[in-house]
Amino acid sequence: MTSLARPPAPSTLTTSPLHAASPAGPWWRDAVIYQVYPRSFADADGDGIGDLPGITARLDHLAELGVDAVWLSPFYRSPQRDAGYDVADYRDVDPLFGTLADADALLARAHALGLRVIVDLVPNHTSSEHPWFRAARTAAPGSPERGRYLFRDGRGPAGDEPPNNWTSVFGGSAWTRVTEPDGTPGQWYLHLFDPSQPDLDWSNPEVRAEFEDVLRFWLDRGVDGFRVDVAHGMVKAPGLPDWHGTTAMIDGGHDGTFGSEDGATGAGSAGPMWDQEPLHEIYRAWNGVLAQYAGDRALVAEAWVEPMSRLARYVRPGEMHQAFNFAFLTTLWSAPDLRAVIVESLEANDEVGAPTTWVLSNHDVVRHTSRLGLEVPGSRPNGIGATDPQPDEEVGLRRGRAASLLMLGLPGSAYVYQGEELGLPEHTTLADEERQDPAWWRSEHTERGRDGCRVPLPWAAAEAGYGFSPTGATWLTQPDSFARYAADVQRGVPGSTYELYRTALRVRREQGLGTGSLAWADGLRTEAGRAVGEDVLAFVNRDVLVVATVGEADVVLPPQAVPLVTSGPTRTTADGRVVVPADTTVWALLTD
Ligand code: NOJ
Repeated sequence: MTSLARPPAPSTLTTSPLHAASPAGPWWRDAVIYQVYPRSFADADGDGIGDLPGITARLDHLAELGVDAVWLSPFYRSPQRDAGYDVADYRDVDPLFGTLADADALLARAHALGLRVIVDLVPNHTSSEHPWFRAARTAAPGSPERGRYLFRDGRGPAGDEPPNNWTSVFGGSAWTRVTEPDGTPGQWYLHLFDPSQPDLDWSNPEVRAEFEDVLRFWLDRGVDGFRVDVAHGMVKAPGLPDWHGTTAMIDGGHDGTFGSEDGATGAGSAGPMWDQEPLHEIYRAWNGVLAQYAGDRALVAEAWVEPMSRLARYVRPGEMHQAFNFAFLTTLWSAPDLRAVIVESLEANDEVGAPTTWVLSNHDVVRHTSRLGLEVPGSRPNGIGATDPQPDEEVGLRRGRAASLLMLGLPGSAYVYQGEELGLPEHTTLADEERQDPAWWRSEHTERGRDGCRVPLPWAAAEAGYGFSPTGATWLTQPDSFARYAADVQRGVPGSTYELYRTALRVRREQGLGTGSLAWADGLRTEAGRAVGEDVLAFVNRDVLVVATVGEADVVLPPQAVPLVTSGPTRTTADGRVVVPADTTVWALLTD
């Protein structure tokens, strides 16, 4: 009788299921994987560049944080023209980073701490200093040495036009002409990235055999998996046809490399250099290699492919195990857009039985705390310089923490980029003279590039170089603001970003959120008693209600929801109800 007279009670939470909880499975299905960028994590030898012993010494930090695994960006022998993504020897450690014995020690320590280790595999291209490419340069056109790469004659009567019109992801032509050993202008070779990164020809069985052997080399040393660089680019369409779209790996709105102003992933998957069918045969073969080893080793695709259903083809049974969800990373700070990408991601991966991954930051994009403080929150300039519009640090941090807690509340596996657990912002005023990303000069100084997210980590606020290195040296200058973010001023401090991540990871594990479910929650009300609009994301994962106020503020939690983790301060009404303000995420345990 009385129920008709009253507004619906806030406790009448209704749910629409989207994704069911999964049974226990291999570790990678729900793992939180921490990306270590070796040159910027921790330096043990004092040269200002991070190294493997530095990482090993700090693994306790990661175990204490509560992640499940570590992914190491490349540490192999390399001239470092693209920060190690230009590999000259896939079976050795660059002296900058240490030795093979150091890699073994890192693996042993990580495993002793219960951390899995994924290493980077860079199969699309080698370094131009790789013995194969050195041999190819001095060999004749048509030789087996050249046949490992994509050498072609040029166009035009004198062969002085590139073989096709493709551009490099880093800007400029994707072709470089060599001088033949007799001194005459010669053939051209393809490089989707820098000229120091010649693309391999994956139709050549020798290339395939070599990389299967490289996989075994690291599997034998005990790695738990591989993050596969440019996993959608290794095979090119037959005949290398001209392409009038952009060649950018990730274009999205401008002719750049790793940026976008409009929230599009801009994955260049339509072009003849991306997402070709024969790739899948390579991954089936690699899956077979990994399957010969115990311990659920994993293959992770770095594939900027759209739509999500197309990306999900990389993680079909018998292929790779996970693919980075760049559509999530590139979504603007908008609840309807985030909801759409969450739906699309879970549906596409459920279709093939794969876990969905979530990621907000990595070594290629502006850190999410800074992106979310920009005028268009979540947009991705390809780097930010001192003369560019600056992000609002406070707003960005608040939203960044909310975004992280939202991400960690989703079912699947999540990636955390080093420093993210400290709430670290991008270095947005780095001197241009210090920039080392090839995108900066290949774009003729129109794209500042990725150095701002690669600045050495601050470990200790009062030490030189913020404790990154025993000498205080750092390969890029750290901004003064890093003092506020150093690990030692956050550890044990309630409310710090570090403690937020630590708590979230513990609760995520305790509540089984990684293998959990997702049902959209309806029925939430604002403090004024209105039904919340589409600016709020609310879902239930197992017994946990996750509420993220992306636009709308002052959402009242239902009385049966008891807060477990909050990304920022909440309020309590006089009658004891919890109110979630703007740009905040709350996890609350549903008690009935
Ligand atoms: C993707 C890597 O993440 C990026 O850092 C690198 O520049 C390109 N692949 C080329 O290897």
